[in-house]
Amino acid sequence: MQVDLTSEPLDGIEADLQVVGLFSGDELPASLGELPGADDVKPGFKKATMLRPDRTRRVLVIGLGKREELDRERLRAVAAVAAKRARGLGARSIAWEPPAAGPDEPAAVAASIVEGTILAGYRFDRFRSADEDEEARSVERLTLAGVEEAEVGADVEAAREASLAANRARDLQSLPANELGPEALAARAREIAAEHDSITLDVLGPKEIAERGMGGLVAVSSGSDAEPRLIALRYEGGGTGERVGFVGKGVTFDSGGISIKPAAGMQEMKMDMSGAAAVLEAVGAIADLGLELDLVAAVPATENMPSGHSARPGDIIRQLNGKTVEVNNTDAEGRLILADALTYCVRDLGAERLVDLATLTGAVVVALGSTYAALISNDDGWAAQVAAAGEQVGELAWRLPLHPEYKDLTKGKVADLTNAASKRKAGTIYAGSFLEEFVDDVPWVHLDIAGTAWDVGREYVGSGPTGFGVRLLVELARELAAGS
Ligand code: BES
Ligand code: MN
Ligand code: ZN
Repeated sequence: MQVDLTSEPLDGIEADLQVVGLFSGDELPASLGELPGADDVKPGFKKATMLRPDRTRRVLVIGLGKREELDRERLRAVAAVAAKRARGLGARSIAWEPPAAGPDEPAAVAASIVEGTILAGYRFDRFRSADEDEEARSVERLTLAGVEEAEVGADVEAAREASLAANRARDLQSLPANELGPEALAARAREIAAEHDSITLDVLGPKEIAERGMGGLVAVSSGSDAEPRLIALRYEGGGTGERVGFVGKGVTFDSGGISIKPAAGMQEMKMDMSGAAAVLEAVGAIADLGLELDLVAAVPATENMPSGHSARPGDIIRQLNGKTVEVNNTDAEGRLILADALTYCVRDLGAERLVDLATLTGAVVVALGSTYAALISNDDGWAAQVAAAGEQVGELAWRLPLHPEYKDLTKGKVADLTNAASKRKAGTIYAGSFLEEFVDDVPWVHLDIAGTAWDVGREYVGSGPTGFGVRLLVELARELAAGS
């Protein structure tokens, strides 16, 4: 989607649909008050009324709710309502005049409208037989009127790149496992690397993975005919700060393995690579924006399948950092592959601080639903920085504690660790405590996105894939690049 900025007022702008926000208690501007439909305007939050409904140059009045309550999240929602109405009308271009005098800066207001518009326009229709009517119906241009490029340009461009990247991550999430296996994820990483001189890529196959001693990735992939990949990206943006490492869980299908999952809902486990999708597409967006920082990323990619070659419950494996693990539940596979990838990211790629994203536990869905991801960290400052970046873009994360008593739960009977406790105490924290054993004490944040990657139900992402994490990581990288 193209985004144009102009200091001109909305009136003079050519667009299939003009959008005007109206705060509760305010009157329509005089120029609109006489138009057909003006009497029907309802000022409530997200209430939309069409003026000049039967003509070209329609105007959509959208309720912004109370002035003091309008924040970035509410703006994303109203922008999404407008974008969906525009699509329904077959409009290809929208012009929006961002409301003045909400609680946020003009740049944040403009960026939020861009986010809501682009994210709400997402569709996954690759596997539907072509429908030309539908094809004609996508909004291709958004003009923001009455804004100063110098003031809002940088934030708008970042919001645009990050939201488009989130939509690409949503495509990866949507793809079923027969279309997107570990090699297809690696192929996507190759595309991203090929598009940017600043990115270099290494893809390890099964032989190298085994030779290096990534026992977790070996064990999890052993049941599948699809070969595993360890995808490693380096982005050199010329930064002077610490090198940050992103790690994303890339299980392209999680059947549970020998500890097989129930049939009902198992199809959803095609999305168990949502962390990987977010990391790959975020790196691409960061390179598109040319952010000045140095970044590395590691994505362990595999299927988790039952077969005669699978890891069995009770098997003992050795992870890349030498620690041994009793695999008491083959469905707790994410932590095994992330363990190796975290160690690899620090020791081989030189990450000095880490963020990992993973659809790791069903327990986080119970605890936090789809509103917050769980955040677990060994470093207060880094935890706060990551959570603050998420807050900016509406990708929320709530910190859960670490404690030596949780760590005790992860101790093995006959090996150093076990991957799953016999009782299901503190499932999300258990997984985080386990991962902490593999980060070599660098500042680390783990985000459990099992509840936020899919089916969030917000106006701008709906009930499917959300691309959660892409915009958070881009925002975090922007802040790191700015040295804040
Ligand atoms: N991929 C799942 C977690 C998951 C659940 C993601 C729901 C998205 C939605 C993960 O690999 C898993 O199976 N976790 C187990 C761990 C347990 C066996 C200790 C779980 O949460 O049940
Ligand atoms: Mn699992
Ligand atoms: Zn999984």
